[in-house]
Amino acid sequence: MSQESRNEYTMEITPQPAAPASLRQRSALRDHLIRNQSMKRVLITGGAGFLGSHLCERFLSEGYAVICMDNLITGSLDNIEHLFGREDFLFMNQDVTEFIHVPGRLDAILHFASPASPIDYLELPIQTLKVGSLGTHKALGLAKAKNARFLLASTSECYGDPLVHPQPESYWGNVNPVGPRGVYDEAKRFAEAMTMAYHRFHDVQTRIIRIFNTYGPRMRLNDGRALPAFMGQAMRGEPITVFGDGSQTRSFCYVDDLVEGIWRLLNSDEPEPTNIGNPAEMTILDFAKKVVELTGSASEIIFKDLPMDDPKVRQPDITKAKSILGWGPTVDLDTGLRRTLDYFRGKVADERDQPAAKAASAVPKG
Ligand SMILES: NC(=O)c1ccc[n+]([C@@H]2O[C@H](COP(=O)([O-])OP(=O)(O)OC[C@H]3O[C@@H](n4cnc5c(N)ncnc54)[C@H](O)[C@@H]3O)[C@@H](O)[C@H]2O)c1
Repeated sequence: MSQESRNEYTMEITPQPAAPASLRQRSALRDHLIRNQSMKRVLITGGAGFLGSHLCERFLSEGYAVICMDNLITGSLDNIEHLFGREDFLFMNQDVTEFIHVPGRLDAILHFASPASPIDYLELPIQTLKVGSLGTHKALGLAKAKNARFLLASTSECYGDPLVHPQPESYWGNVNPVGPRGVYDEAKRFAEAMTMAYHRFHDVQTRIIRIFNTYGPRMRLNDGRALPAFMGQAMRGEPITVFGDGSQTRSFCYVDDLVEGIWRLLNSDEPEPTNIGNPAEMTILDFAKKVVELTGSASEIIFKDLPMDDPKVRQPDITKAKSILGWGPTVDLDTGLRRTLDYFRGKVADERDQPAAKAASAVPKG
């Protein structure tokens, strides 16, 4: 889709708190409201990102009118351009840490805006802290004003480098607040505290999901997370970079399973944090070998120093999600990886056509 066509469906909002929206902005929002006044309406912050774009699709398929708010700092219009032109979908190009104005009804707000990969939040430390604190405050204020249900995308990183394994929601975590990763972990911990305060003090209907490593189509090949890095390296025939000795563990959840968990949690009555993730734990080294096998690559595996505060183990205890949501993962690793690989094949082919895209690729940092 050309930039001109995208612009037709995109609203630019100037980042000045007190500035009134332009007439064009106001009329786009008003039209969206008038067209969809009988429908439920959801605001998804971070909606142009990996997870947010899958959520936009899910809520549209559930009959919601969707407002996707994103400043594209780590997201991309490529993830949502297939939704442009739908009457029930609107994209707002806005920083959620600034003043947010959405006229008319809102039934739910899903707050997913935040840099999420280690490379992103190490490069964007202040923006990460701001979106977790100010952004969460703004989004909660809007939920209160609209009497909308609010769901916070929190993270297993709240558990830090855990001393309890697997991690139940009752575990308070082991986070280094002043290490480089602290900007993400503490932003999310603050966001959880703020969400609970709005629930307790203002009676806002809030939900908190602690998301464990999730993968699937629309991850960025160069976002520094292990899975896209391994797949990219394997498909290019480059060495696969494993940090440390590869004995650290992760548990990978396919995006469709996560989205189902989010849907169920939003529609539940549970205000306390709830883990959603796939408990099938494996070492990063075994994971790298799996990717090599699946891609049929001849890449060798090489080892580099482990980044500071990298969690040594990570596995969700999903007893709570099972009992209160009847949720559990349904997509096995081989199936999920094959679906993701199909997506990344296209991205690696794009890189060959546009070498500049490859130059931007980076080695994984977590
Ligand atoms: N993917 C995972 O495995 C995972 C795990 C735990 C938690 N999460 C959480 O889920 C959410 C989405 O993660 P993702 O993997 O889709 O990452 P992503 O980077 O693909 O998506 C985040 C989106 O938020 C947008 N954004 C960031 N700051 C913003 C701001 N100030 N205003 C408006 N938009 C802003 C980005 O442009 C991007 O589109 C994040 O909050 C993340 O912390 C993800």
